[in-house]
Amino acid sequence: SEINNATFQYSAPSNIALVKYWGKKENQIPANPSISFTLNNCKTITKLSVENKKSIINNSLENKISFDLFFEGKPKESFNPKIEKFLERILVYCPFLNDYHLTIHTENTFPHSSGIASSASGMAALAMNIMNLEKELSPSISDDYFYSKASFLARLGSGSACRSIKGEVVIWGNHKEVSNSSDLFGVEFSNIHSNFKNYQDTILLVDKGEKQVSSTVGHNLMHNHPYAEKRFEQAHENLSKIKDILSTGNISEFIKIVESEALTLHAMMMTSMPYFILMKPNTLEIINRIWKFRNETQIPVCFTLDAGANVHILYPENVKEEVLHFIKNELVDYCQNEQYICDQIGNGAKSI
Ligand code: PMV
Repeated sequence: SEINNATFQYSAPSNIALVKYWGKKENQIPANPSISFTLNNCKTITKLSVENKKSIINNSLENKISFDLFFEGKPKESFNPKIEKFLERILVYCPFLNDYHLTIHTENTFPHSSGIASSASGMAALAMNIMNLEKELSPSISDDYFYSKASFLARLGSGSACRSIKGEVVIWGNHKEVSNSSDLFGVEFSNIHSNFKNYQDTILLVDKGEKQVSSTVGHNLMHNHPYAEKRFEQAHENLSKIKDILSTGNISEFIKIVESEALTLHAMMMTSMPYFILMKPNTLEIINRIWKFRNETQIPVCFTLDAGANVHILYPENVKEEVLHFIKNELVDYCQNEQYICDQIGNGAKSI
């Protein structure tokens, strides 16, 4: 079928990895499998309007990806190269894109330059819109195809974005114990114990500056990294363990894997050549205070980190009050402008 004009709108959330993806091969193939919690409040909202080029009078756009991008209502030149590269990369899988001029309006629910990467939520939201166009053109495609391909496309924009499409917990990357796992797209992991229901993630904004090291550079530093092979093996083992932990509800074991994964991610950065440190003094202060609080109260709160200085504090919903009290009393002083974001597990992208 053919359509001339259409508009779609999707939100897609950010996600936080429990077992980290760090290192990739050609074509955004991960060097090891990873697993993440999908977030609920930190998201990108993207509207895609398409106009068939045939209907554009004086069409000078033939056979070339053409789009306009607006961020928070204004043209955003600096985003164009990344989007152009993405659209060109997915064109072989979505040849119909050549027939349309695309107008993309995008915004985030979290403050920009907060140090929260918007690439996962942004690429996931765009991929969902593009799949919706495909569905308009080919209404018979199955739900399974729709979501797998959305994740596949999102991966080509930003690896971790493939974990922001569908499901509360998502696994990306081949793993021997997960029969439907794939290096090409994320799959939902659904056997989750009620202890993890509405699991909380409070994100402490320690450093809102631009990343010192892009994740592309970081992933590439795992090539010829002295500890790479051992690390990739460990990620497989940790994924085996955390799957069982999520199913049995063993929070104390969960804490061990999650914190170890965060520190290992940063250890890989510290031991690459060139080496770098993305934690800030306040990151360490916060970690130490979390450990002290946990020891003293036995409240099962733990931290994880992305490729940056911000700290994600993970804890069960039933201790929310105590933990938020602790954060307000002891941790906000270590945040830039006392800023933090309260989030929790969510279940993926949504049509708006
Ligand atoms: O999706 P990328 O290429 O920005 O990589 C993200 C890597 C980490 O956030 C550090 C870990 C992860 O698995 O999300």
